[in-house]
Amino acid sequence: LKTLAETLPQAMPGPVGSAALLDPALLSAGADLAAMPKLINESRQAGLFKATLIAAPARVPLLSTGPTEFWAYNGSLPGPLIEVTEGDNVEITLVNQLTQPTTIHWHGLPVPPGQDGNPHDAVAPGQSHTYRFTLPVGCAGSYWYHPHPHLLAAEQVYRGMAGGFIVRARQDPLAQIPERSLILSDLKLDARGQIAPNDSDDWMNGREGQFVLTNGQNRPVLRFSPQGRERWRVWNANSARYLRLQLPGSTLTLVGTDGGLLEKPQAGLEEYLLAPGQRAEFIVDAGQRRDLAKLVSAVYDRGKMGDVAPEHPIAILSVDFSAVSASALPPLPDKLVVIPDLGKPVAHKRVVFSESMSMRNGQHEMKFLVNGRQYDMNRIDLKSRAGDVEVWEIANQADMDHPFHLHGTQFQVLSRELDGEAIAVPYKAWHDTVNLKSGETVRIKTVQHWPGIRMFHCHILEHEAAGMMGQLKVI
Ligand code: C2O
Ligand code: CU
Ligand code: CU
Repeated sequence: LKTLAETLPQAMPGPVGSAALLDPALLSAGADLAAMPKLINESRQAGLFKATLIAAPARVPLLSTGPTEFWAYNGSLPGPLIEVTEGDNVEITLVNQLTQPTTIHWHGLPVPPGQDGNPHDAVAPGQSHTYRFTLPVGCAGSYWYHPHPHLLAAEQVYRGMAGGFIVRARQDPLAQIPERSLILSDLKLDARGQIAPNDSDDWMNGREGQFVLTNGQNRPVLRFSPQGRERWRVWNANSARYLRLQLPGSTLTLVGTDGGLLEKPQAGLEEYLLAPGQRAEFIVDAGQRRDLAKLVSAVYDRGKMGDVAPEHPIAILSVDFSAVSASALPPLPDKLVVIPDLGKPVAHKRVVFSESMSMRNGQHEMKFLVNGRQYDMNRIDLKSRAGDVEVWEIANQADMDHPFHLHGTQFQVLSRELDGEAIAVPYKAWHDTVNLKSGETVRIKTVQHWPGIRMFHCHILEHEAAGMMGQLKVI
């Protein structure tokens, strides 16, 4: 592993320019959205969720010309959906049948650092490891799991390793509404229908493929509930693609973010920007419509560099409202949960994202930096005390957007400003990932609960691999 790290040049260049990609028309679309496989609980004991995730190559028949080789958890794309209830004890065994080291990181969940799949705790090929943690009451929300080995997380995720992790509340104010989990993941296939490796543009701007799958399906059809209202949990599990979600003809009601429900529903949204790594929960009402609609991702300018192809809106899935029979819907509860204030801050920290670019042999050489440095596994960048309330000021001095993610806890955004102008923060919410546009500064309030090492990084996975990550030591 060390040897690999030492031999990789800092900008991690791949082949220049994109190799021929699969014609998008060759991947069939339009099948009914299928239920996602769930991870089976092997325990009979109340309050204990016990299961196994096997990381291994898997052949998935996407194309008529032959299977596509993925790396997957339990052969499933995305990984099987994990559903537990707040308060549960969790014991999940990872069996590594890949030829590379891997870990499982429980993105957004409050788990102790030693159980969180840090790069330092790699599980070697052929080995297995059991992760154990208890999920405290109050952490209900939509999380996810994905690998976090040193330098290899981006590749393992784009080859198919990621899954959803729902923590259910003992009392959920929206429990009576039919629910969907929509895990959106980008896919880049080469002309032979196999997963294309990253090229130099991918390592610079982050990888985007020609497809955005929903629960592993290409542009499926979601047959909307006859009741006329659904709750959608949406994951941006893409390496780098931002999702500017719109459902033309309908507005969205935001009810939850990364770490669970908002205090009140936020109705009437024409669109919602979901950065890589983030999740959101929406209520969608059919209203009077009975048509076939499209959930799309509109063009979003995130400041990509170099000669990149112009962006196009992307159709994610179709929503068939034709079976809706309800005409009037009851109002949503106007109070969902209480989001407590974390208390008075006792420490302050500053994190600066930046890029440095130079030209070498006609190729861009990019460095992605946190506080002026690239990630070093053997260096501690910041220190905190367990239980201390802290304010972190995160500034994006780079030219591209970068989504900031902090492990081990959920934080609240206090303020944001873009090029010196304040941007309103209209409601309280729990986040583990927050986007920063070029020139933006965000202040967050956060607390770490256990001693140990936590990562914070850009969740464009290529940037994380190229060094845009730091380490927090909690004492
Ligand atoms: Cu999605 Cu370091 O994590
Ligand atoms: Cu994480
Ligand atoms: Cu980034």
